[in-house]
Amino acid sequence: MKNKKEIALVYNNINRYKACRLSKYLIGLTVNGYNLFELKVKYMSNKRWTLTFLFLIILFLYVFIQFIWTSKQMEETVEALDKRVSLHEEPPHFILIAQEFDNPYWRKVEKGAQDAAKKFQVEVEYVAPLRTSIEEQIKLLEKAIASKVDGIIVQSLDEEAFTPIINKAISKNIPIITIDTDAKASRRLSYIGTDNFAAGQLLGKTVVDMTTGQHKIGVIIGSESSDNQQERLDGFLSVIKQHPRLEVVEVQASNISRIQASIQADIMLRKYPDISVMVGTSALDAIGMTVAVKNLQRSDIQIFGFDDVEETLLAIKKGEITATIIQKPYEMGFIAVQLMSKHLQGQPIPNVYFTSSKKVDASNVQMEVTP
Ligand code: BGC
Repeated sequence: MKNKKEIALVYNNINRYKACRLSKYLIGLTVNGYNLFELKVKYMSNKRWTLTFLFLIILFLYVFIQFIWTSKQMEETVEALDKRVSLHEEPPHFILIAQEFDNPYWRKVEKGAQDAAKKFQVEVEYVAPLRTSIEEQIKLLEKAIASKVDGIIVQSLDEEAFTPIINKAISKNIPIITIDTDAKASRRLSYIGTDNFAAGQLLGKTVVDMTTGQHKIGVIIGSESSDNQQERLDGFLSVIKQHPRLEVVEVQASNISRIQASIQADIMLRKYPDISVMVGTSALDAIGMTVAVKNLQRSDIQIFGFDDVEETLLAIKKGEITATIIQKPYEMGFIAVQLMSKHLQGQPIPNVYFTSSKKVDASNVQMEVTP
């Protein structure tokens, strides 16, 4: 093999043979004893290799850059598509089954639930019988299960009647949360509402604290079949029994209707004219009682009630109702939706969430702003 200098020198001579561009003319030609054809082939193939190598590197870089750029583009496209899909995805759909559609207490539960729905980006459908009815509520529950909603929030008016249906929903993977009234024996995920026995005790304690001397008491509960009303009554009686100066002479039900509460109060006061304390355990009972008391012109009667619907707070300000035990219906609705959403995201939720209750009378009624 000749050294590089020699080869370059000889190759320069090839330029003299420009006329012989085609390699075949070089065959047989020699310069300074070198075969020109062999030299050209060798020189050209070295050059070609370098060019080919350079070309390959550039090609590789080009393909590589293209690949990176395309992958990035694809990633961005997929991301954008994902976003678009999630924007158009239907939000989870919950059904809230109340006791009575237009009851002011349940409207507060609904308000809390709808506010939470906005916050947690879910949809809440509020349904209820026009007038309280276990059969109607059960039909609504069955319908919600059949339409495969993402979650059901229901007041369980009657534990025995509701438990098998709640369990059916759970076995079909439809989560159920009870609200306001629990079905403890069922497989519901959680109960959100008042500790009703404790709230009944607080009502009893309030009557004890705000009365003096002997009293006969007439009680009106919301419903005989409703567990929350029974628990409140039990809590109330457990306290009253400890005070011999107080005696419950009759218990009737209003069917959560203010008209029925007024009718029952009227009948009771005529039957027991010596009743001097009347107690109601659901939202509209005390308001109904005020009507009967006014009609009978019995200004000597003290009325104790439940909940903070506007008319009750107004009646406390006017001195027509002595005190009420308030619950947190707005909070119940809000928390039920919040916990249902959490559950759908795979987060654990508590088995029982007691919302608070407290006494409101003339001393603190001013501070009560109800959402
Ligand atoms: C009870 C509810 C009931 C409502 C009726 C509330 O005190 O907690 O169960 O539906 O009163 O007005």
